[in-house]
Amino acid sequence: MKTLAVTSLLLLLLFAGESLCAPPAADYLIIGGGTAGLVLANRLSSNPSVTVTVIEPGGDERRNPNVSGTDKFSQAFNTPIDWNYTTVPQPRANNRSLTLHQGKAWGGTSTINGMTYIRGDARVFDVWEGLGNLGWSWKDLFPYFLKAENYTIPTATQVAAGTTYRQGNHGFSGLLRVGYTSALRNGSFAPLIMGTWEDMGLGKNGDLNAGDVRGYGMGPQTLGRADSEEVRWDAARGYYHPIEGRENLKMVRGTVRRVLWREDGGGSGKGRLLVAKGVEFVNGEGVVERMEATREVIVSAGGVRSPLVLEASGIGNPRILDLLGIETRVNLPGVGENLGGQSVHIMVLSGEMESSASAYHTYVTAADLFGDSLDKVKNATRKSLPDWARTMADVSKGALSAQALEEQFRLQYELIFQHNVSVAEVITVSAPGGILASNYYVVLPFSRGSVHLGDLDKIDRPVIDPSIFSSDFDITVTTAIGRVVQKFWLSGRIRPLVTGQLTPDVGVLPENATDAQWLAHFRQSLDMAAHPRGSAAMMRRELGGVVDPELRVYGTANVRVVDASVIPMPISGHMSATVYAVAERGADIIKRTSYGGHP
Ligand SMILES: Cc1cc2nc3c(=O)[nH]c(=O)nc-3n(C[C@H](O)[C@H](O)[C@H](O)COP(=O)(O)OP(=O)(O)OC[C@H]3O[C@@H](n4cnc5c(N)ncnc54)[C@H](O)[C@@H]3O)c2cc1C
Ligand SMILES: *[C@@H]1O[C@H](CO)[C@@H](O)[C@H](O)[C@H]1NC(C)=O
Ligand SMILES: *[C@@H]1O[C@H](CO)[C@@H](O)[C@H](O)[C@H]1NC(C)=O
Ligand SMILES: *[C@@H]1O[C@H](CO)[C@@H](O)[C@H](O)[C@H]1NC(C)=O
Ligand SMILES: *[C@@H]1O[C@H](CO)[C@@H](O)[C@H](O)[C@H]1NC(C)=O
Ligand SMILES: *[C@@H]1O[C@H](CO)[C@@H](O)[C@H](O)[C@H]1NC(C)=O
Ligand SMILES: *[C@@H]1O[C@H](CO)[C@@H](O)[C@H](O)[C@H]1NC(C)=O
Ligand SMILES: *[C@@H]1O[C@H](CO)[C@@H](O)[C@H](O)[C@H]1NC(C)=O
Ligand SMILES: *[C@@H]1O[C@H](CO)[C@@H](O)[C@H](O)[C@H]1NC(C)=O
Repeated sequence: MKTLAVTSLLLLLLFAGESLCAPPAADYLIIGGGTAGLVLANRLSSNPSVTVTVIEPGGDERRNPNVSGTDKFSQAFNTPIDWNYTTVPQPRANNRSLTLHQGKAWGGTSTINGMTYIRGDARVFDVWEGLGNLGWSWKDLFPYFLKAENYTIPTATQVAAGTTYRQGNHGFSGLLRVGYTSALRNGSFAPLIMGTWEDMGLGKNGDLNAGDVRGYGMGPQTLGRADSEEVRWDAARGYYHPIEGRENLKMVRGTVRRVLWREDGGGSGKGRLLVAKGVEFVNGEGVVERMEATREVIVSAGGVRSPLVLEASGIGNPRILDLLGIETRVNLPGVGENLGGQSVHIMVLSGEMESSASAYHTYVTAADLFGDSLDKVKNATRKSLPDWARTMADVSKGALSAQALEEQFRLQYELIFQHNVSVAEVITVSAPGGILASNYYVVLPFSRGSVHLGDLDKIDRPVIDPSIFSSDFDITVTTAIGRVVQKFWLSGRIRPLVTGQLTPDVGVLPENATDAQWLAHFRQSLDMAAHPRGSAAMMRRELGGVVDPELRVYGTANVRVVDASVIPMPISGHMSATVYAVAERGADIIKRTSYGGHP
C-alpha cells in the first residue's frame, strides 16, 4: 500500500515536472520551411485560431544577394545555403559521384534554383490518376497553378525577344510572381535563335504553360519587383515575408530527426493507424528538443530529405530499417525508392552574339527526335519495358516489384508514343562575353533510383543513388537530343556567328561523332539533374506508393508529405511550378480532412 502511494506520488511529481517544462506545441508542425513548406505555413495559418510551427535548418536569406539577384544563378552553390549533397558512385557515369545542390534557407531550393516556371504537359498529370490518385488530373491541378501565380504580362520589347502567353492560362492574384526579366532586349540574337529553331521544324510555343510544351519559347521566371528592384520571387518572399508577423505562426531553427508516436492510439494491430504526437529535432545550438503537434505533422523536407525523416520514424522498408537499428512501425518499402534518375548535359561554344539575358526553352517529342525510325524506337521501347522494370526492381533490392514498375513504365510509354508528350528539353542562352550554351536532358527518363538514410546519426548525409542511365532509352534520347543541339549551333542559321566549340572539345565530340563517342562523353561529363522527386510517391500502396491521394502517409492517421517527393512520375516541365500547385492543393486538402478537424 505504502509503496504504491509513494510510487503514485513519484509519478505525480514526474508528470508535474514534465508539464512544467512541457514541450512547446502547435496544431500543425511543418518539417522544412522550403518551397512547399512555406506555402502550407501561409495557407494553414490564415485562420488565426490555428497554430502553425515550421522547423527549418536554414535561415532568413532575404538580404543574401546570391538569393535576391536575378542574374546570380549558381552563385549560391557551395555556399552555406546549399546542402551540396553527393551521390554514390554512378556505374554508368564512370563511377563518378555527382553533386546535388539543394537549398537550405527559408524558401528552400526556391532560393537557389534557375527560376524557370514551366508546368509541363497536361497528359503527364493526367496519368497520376491512373496510379490511384483520383482527383489529381491536370484539370484538377490547373486551378491551383493559377491560384499560386501572379503573372506579369510581357512588354512589347519582351514580346520582340520571344515571350508569348495566351489568355486563360495564368493567375494574377497569387503570391508567386511570374514574369520576364527587364534585362530582356529586342536584340539581334532573338531572330537568330528563334529562326534556327523554326528552321528545324520546332515552331514557337504560344504559351509554355498551357499544358502542351512542344516547340520553343522564352522561359517565364519566378521573379518580380520589390522596391523598384527586380528580385527572385522565392517561396519565402512570396509566402512567408508578407505574413511573418502572424502571432499563430512560428519559425524555429532546427533539423527534424524523427516523428514521435502516440503509444496509446498507435500500435501495430491490424488496421490501426499510427498517430503522431510531435517531432524530435536538433535545434540551432545542436541540442535535441521535442515539439508537440496537436493535429498533424507535415513533412516538407524535399525530395531528398522527406524519406529520411520517415525512415528515422520507423516508416519504410524493414530490411533497410533493421540495418539501421530502427523498429519498423509501418512496412512501406516505397519510402526512398522511385527517385527520378535524370541527368543533365551541356554544350558550350564561343560566338559573336550579345547576351540574351534569359533562356529559350525548346521541347521535342519522340517523333521530332526519331522521324522515320520512330516506329522502330517505339517497338524497341515497348519490348524493353519488362527488362527495365526487372533491372530497376533489382536496383531497389526488391523494394519495388517489377510488376509495379512495369505498370508505371507502360503509362510513361503511352505518354511518349501515343500521346506525343515531349521527351526532351534544350535550354539555350547567349551569355555575356560571347558564350553560347545549351543544357539538354531527357524530361521523361525511365531510370529510377533511391535515397535512404545511411546512419541514424548522419541525417544530413543521405545516401543518394539516382541510378542514371539504368534504362537505355534514356541514353538513346539523350544522344538524339545532343545531336539536335549540335545541329542547332553548327548547321543552322546561327552557324556564322559561332567561332568555336568550347565544351566538350571537338576532339571528344566531333560533328560526326558516333553513338559510342556520345556515350563516352556523357559518362565522363553528365551531372545529376537537380530535380529529385518521387521518393515518397503519391500512388497505390501496392505500386510502391507512400502517400494516399490526400497526401497522408499510409498507415498513419496524421502525417502527410507535401513536397517534390510525392510527385509520382517525371514531368515534361520544371519542378517548382508543380511543387507550388501541389502544396496549394495540399493545404486545401489538409483543411478539409485534418486530423481532429480544421476550425
Ligand atoms: C540548382 C537547381 C536549379 C533548379 N532550377 C529550377 C528551375 O529553374 N525551375 C524549377 O521549376 N525548378 C527548379 N529546380 C527544382 C525546384 O527548385 C525544386 O524542385 C523545388 O524547389 C523543391 O521544393 P520542395 O518543397 O520539394 O523542397 P525544398 O524547397 O528543397 O524544401 C525543403 C526544405 O526542407 C529543409 N529540410 C531538409 N531536411 C530537413 C529536416 N530534417 N528537418 C527540417 N527541415 C529540413 C531544407 O533545408 C529545405 O529548406 C531547381 C533545383 C536546383 C537544385
Ligand atoms: C555569394 O556567392 C559567392 C560566390 O559563390 C560567395 O563567394 C559569397 O560568399 C556568397 N555570399 C553569401 C552571402 O553567401
Ligand atoms: C566501377 O566500379 C565497379 C565496382 O567497384 C567496377 O566493377 C567497375 O569496373 C567500375 N567501372 C569503371 C568504368 O571504372
Ligand atoms: C561540395 O561537394 C563537392 C563534391 O561533390 C566538394 O568538392 C565540395 O568541397 C563541397 N563543398 C562544400 C562547401 O562542402
Ligand atoms: C525589335 O527590333 C526590330 C528590328 O530592329 C524592329 O523592327 C522592331 O520594331 C523592334 N520591336 C520592338 C518592340 O522594339
Ligand atoms: C501582383 O503583381 C503586381 C505587380 O506585377 C502587384 O502590383 C500586385 O499587388 C500583385 N498582386 C498580389 C495579389 O500580390
Ligand atoms: C512495330 O510494331 C508494329 C506492331 O507490332 C508492327 O506492325 C510494325 O511493323 C513494327 N515496326 C517496325 C519498324 O518494327
Ligand atoms: C501522335 O503522333 C502520331 C504521329 O507521329 C499521330 O499519328 C497521332 O495521332 C498523334 N497522337 C496524338 C494524341 O496527338
Ligand atoms: C569523322 O570525321 C573525321 C574527319 O573528317 C574522320 O577522320 C573520322 O574518321 C570520321 N569519323 C567517323 C566515325 O565517320
